[in-house]
Amino acid sequence: MKITADDAVVLLLHGKVVAVPTETVYGLAAIATMPAAVAKIFAIKNRPADNPLICHFHSMEQVKKYVKEIPATTQKLMHKFSPGPVSFMLDLPEDSALKFATCGQPQVIVRIPGHAVFLSILKKINQPVAAPSANTSGKISPTTAEMVEQDLGGKTDGVVDGGSSPVGLESAILDARSETEIFILRPGAIGKDEIRELFPDIKVQDVNTSHIIPGSRYPHYAPNKPVLLIDNISAAALDGNAALILTQEDLNNLPMPLLDKFSSRNIQLLRLGSKGDLNELAKNFYHTLSTVDRLDVTKAYFLKTDFGDSSLGRAIENRLSRILRNA
Ligand code: TXA
Ligand code: MG
Repeated sequence: MKITADDAVVLLLHGKVVAVPTETVYGLAAIATMPAAVAKIFAIKNRPADNPLICHFHSMEQVKKYVKEIPATTQKLMHKFSPGPVSFMLDLPEDSALKFATCGQPQVIVRIPGHAVFLSILKKINQPVAAPSANTSGKISPTTAEMVEQDLGGKTDGVVDGGSSPVGLESAILDARSETEIFILRPGAIGKDEIRELFPDIKVQDVNTSHIIPGSRYPHYAPNKPVLLIDNISAAALDGNAALILTQEDLNNLPMPLLDKFSSRNIQLLRLGSKGDLNELAKNFYHTLSTVDRLDVTKAYFLKTDFGDSSLGRAIENRLSRILRNA
């Protein structure tokens, strides 16, 4: 059921769970300090009980009230990139009211989202809001209100429609608690290049996060139908009744006779966007993948391509590595 942002404020204050738009992906929100409300998020998503939730705040001043400290490196990054598509790992005080949302972990991951609708909700509530992506555990993240409704249906207490999420991929998660090193725990739109503009000399490291970020232990995030990685297109090797996901560039290079073969065998082409505009490609990424489930096909093939070394390129590669299976 669609609700307004003001409805969401009232519902959240009453311990309900609502889906909200953010600039990255839609979130399934509850007030982070209400254990019963947070428990509902886990139930609705069918989320493993040891997988902590990101907590959302409206300002750095508000974050300060809930964490031990905001170290200098994190402060600088927050000043530059928050509100925005980036989250930070910070230490909690012993007796933190956020421990239920963090599944007992001594650290919390905080984010100040850059979406006007969600920010206004956060300001009105003035309490931290836990919000994982608004999908069933193991499914892909939703970037429109319709995708949330298709996946979670009537399980939430409402969905605030804020249009399609402009970034389209989950936030980057950074551990910037040290003065000498920044760890990228989950790649996103803010990455090495953006960080180095601020800290030209600091060491920025990608870390293999399965021991730090519980969510990365669960290997598959995928549409219901299998998405298989292929290196090249030889029509003979592809099963019929399938989707073929490829970039605009690869689409442009397909020879005419191959196109005819595809259509005679119900191989439907799904354009992922252009590598020349990764912002647009990322924005539509999950939505494009979600259409595989609605097409009259049994599986999808994904034509391997190199998305390059930019932060967004790496983030796209990272999400794909979790979605694709080997053909
Ligand atoms: O863009 C985003 O970050 C979206 C929007 C809604 O804000 N949220 C999101 O949440 O992607 P979620 O739960 O789908 O992914 C958060 C990841 C999970 O892999 C989780 O295990 C990890 O962050 N995480 C959250 N809190 C943590 C903590 N205290 N310690 C370690 N990992 C944590
Ligand atoms: Mg998620």
